[in-house]
Amino acid sequence: MADEKKLRLGVLGSGKGSNMVAIAEAASQQDCPFEIAVVLADVAEAGILARARERGLDAEFIAPGRFRTKLDDDAERAYIERLAAARVDLVVLAGFMRILKGEFLRTFENRVINIHPSLLPSFPGLEAWKQALDYGVKVTGCTVHLVDHGVDTGAIIAQRTVPVLDADTPASLHERIQQAERSLYPAALTAFATGRVKIEGRRCLGMSFGQV
Ligand code: GRF
Repeated sequence: MADEKKLRLGVLGSGKGSNMVAIAEAASQQDCPFEIAVVLADVAEAGILARARERGLDAEFIAPGRFRTKLDDDAERAYIERLAAARVDLVVLAGFMRILKGEFLRTFENRVINIHPSLLPSFPGLEAWKQALDYGVKVTGCTVHLVDHGVDTGAIIAQRTVPVLDADTPASLHERIQQAERSLYPAALTAFATGRVKIEGRRCLGMSFGQV
């Protein structure tokens, strides 16, 4: 696929970057319909930046400002400007630990997606794998969804299930969910980039359960 036709992704993260690596690996395959235009992090020493640079990707730390859980106005503007300068079509959250709101979501309306480590709407928020284990469910999974003004409340694009085993610890369950994430996220991005995902209010069509 010619480069100019590829969907340009801006990947935002705060952590180790395993989802970004999975996306970068998919993007390096011939004919992949998306490419990573830029990787941004709100933590200077985040692994995601090192792992992006190892792959020759454009990667930058942008300070988040004075709040703990969101970007302040100046930081929000800086993120928007950097993503616009990289001509990003879709913002891909991959472990970005700050809530995006207001101006950012208006600028990229229906063009910000996230992956969450549970079957939403169960277990939104932090440490979803631990919430699932503590609750005692037998099946959990991961969800790719659009980002709206709530926390993990946006329309669901794709989900994959993961079993909870008797011997699981939070760490073993988290690892199994992350393995599922690493294949679901590139699959969802491919569907997005090829126009297969149709947004109809709360329903995103195109990635039914069992098809991905
Ligand atoms: C992923 O498990 C994802 O579910 C959550 O943040 C984690 C990021 O991990 N939103 P990584 O930085 O991609 O390894």
